[in-house]
Amino acid sequence: MLFVVRKTLISRFYELFVRSTSLHRISTATVRSMAAVASYDGQVVPKDEVVRFIEDCMRKAGTRAEDAHVVAHHLMTADYRGHFSHGMNRMQMYVNEIESRLTDPVARPRVVSDFQATALVDGENALGQVIGKYCMEMAIEKAKKFGIGMVAARGSNHYGICGYYTMMAMEQGLIGFSCTNTSPLMAPTRSTKAALGTNPLSLGMAGACEGDEFVLDMATTAVALGKIELAIRKDEDIPEGWALDSQGEVTRNAQEAYDGAAMMPLGGTERTSGYKGYGLGLMVEILCGVLTGSQFGPNIRNWKTADRVADLGQCFMAINPAAFAEGSKERLSTLLEQLRDLPAAGAVPVLVAGDPERQHMKKVDKEGGITYHPNQLKASEEFAKLMGVQPMKLVPKSV
Ligand SMILES: NC(=O)c1ccc[n+]([C@@H]2O[C@H](COP(=O)([O-])OP(=O)(O)OC[C@H]3O[C@@H](n4cnc5c(N)ncnc54)[C@H](O)[C@@H]3O)[C@@H](O)[C@H]2O)c1
Repeated sequence: MLFVVRKTLISRFYELFVRSTSLHRISTATVRSMAAVASYDGQVVPKDEVVRFIEDCMRKAGTRAEDAHVVAHHLMTADYRGHFSHGMNRMQMYVNEIESRLTDPVARPRVVSDFQATALVDGENALGQVIGKYCMEMAIEKAKKFGIGMVAARGSNHYGICGYYTMMAMEQGLIGFSCTNTSPLMAPTRSTKAALGTNPLSLGMAGACEGDEFVLDMATTAVALGKIELAIRKDEDIPEGWALDSQGEVTRNAQEAYDGAAMMPLGGTERTSGYKGYGLGLMVEILCGVLTGSQFGPNIRNWKTADRVADLGQCFMAINPAAFAEGSKERLSTLLEQLRDLPAAGAVPVLVAGDPERQHMKKVDKEGGITYHPNQLKASEEFAKLMGVQPMKLVPKSV
């Protein structure tokens, strides 16, 4: 009985968090009008405190201490980089899945086969981040030895932002790549029904100069579902090319798009080359689902019901630039500089992938912590009570 009550409460908090994420980009004016804002105005949460809070909650949910840290550091990093949809607010989903016995909080990944530069891992239904870190560490080791390492996993769970694993390889001077399949949400070009996930992918490489890097980290759908939720709240239409309605027609109505749960691939309609995003999503599915024997495409559990284990597939690759022509890092730095120096079409400069995240991290560092939406802070306070852990301590913004 207690378990059921607690599970219901956690689901309610999860909803609250999801909503707070969608609201994250609402204008300051709107936010100021909310009663909840006053007490949090000008307050941030230091990164260490975010990690501490998530760690405590994950420990209470039944994870080992080291795994709680792995998840906490990953989620904090997502928020630090400005991807709030995949940061702290995902914790409730993870706790919920542990409580529902859908994720095993103490499981350990197992190597199924290991052949020189490649390996297949069974995640054994452990936490996605634990599996992801394990696999990328293995791929890095292989890349150092063979020039390239590729490890693919099945039996996995939601593993957060792909870029985290890419950056693990980059920290070792390697090119990193990672992708994951997800619950069906995207309707392939010419179809009216979702059959592939948002299937994100990431590739990154560091240049020769300190902090100069390319980190592409993106879903292969036109937008994330959160952007449609936000449009509903703001009572706005969505652009053509984001989603279909329940009849399979392209819609500009945000609520119809949400109800239809059939997002369009990156690129939108066939006329605007949406089949390229569809192709990319399928490419991810081949590397993650087809290759590993995990669930794949429309066979993956529904994201709304989540009534069975996820059994997701993921792919991790590390490539050693030293195995190729000398000077690649210098050439990358030159290229990135050339791109950023291009004449801008408007008032804002040309960027390369990874720049928006770097700008966000700079802001967080300057302000002494992460600025969360008030709803998320409120929900996390209540969640702390529910889990019996110390609530997050907020500090005044530095500037
Ligand atoms: N695990 C999952 O199930 C799952 C599913 C979907 C997305 N995600 C994660 O969600 C996060 C957000 O995904 P998204 O597709 O919404 O990202 P996004 O659209 O915010 O950014 C995509 C990429 O475009 C780059 N970018 C943004 N503006 C740019 C500009 N003006 N010029 C050049 N590059 C620019 C960013 O640096 C980023 O690399 C990612 O970290 C992704 O891995 C995870």
